[in-house]
Amino acid sequence: FLPQSGGGGGGGVGAKDAAGNAIKEDAWLAAHPTDSRELVLGLKAEATWLIVEDKKVVPFAINAVCTHLGCVVPWVPAENKYKCPCHGSQYDKNGKVIRGPAPLSLALEHVNVDGDGNVLLSSWKEEDFRTGEAPWWNF
Ligand code: FES
Repeated sequence: FLPQSGGGGGGGVGAKDAAGNAIKEDAWLAAHPTDSRELVLGLKAEATWLIVEDKKVVPFAINAVCTHLGCVVPWVPAENKYKCPCHGSQYDKNGKVIRGPAPLSLALEHVNVDGDGNVLLSSWKEEDFRTGEAPWWNF
């Protein structure tokens, strides 16, 4: 199951790339023509994975801060998972924790695209679709 839209009533704050530039959907997709995951600035100005699959920006982004002790978790395409270099925690492609010591899945943010093609981030306050639980994060 994947959410069909960003939800959250639309809106949000403009996503920024690692250099601090606003992200436009068309330019992003032109630069990322195949499936990709790239770190951008999330809502808390934390490293956050923006995902492209099937030539679309996926409607959720994954906060890259490990829920164990806060290392930034890299994506390992060959294994289709995120693996923390600090103490070995692992997360599946949607950021759900699959191996500790991390106690929790990676936080989510909604991703929407407005009428002008700006990629926007907004708070994920709904149920966590990976666990069926309320979000543990609050941003
Ligand atoms: Fe990621 Fe410890 S900080 S496993």
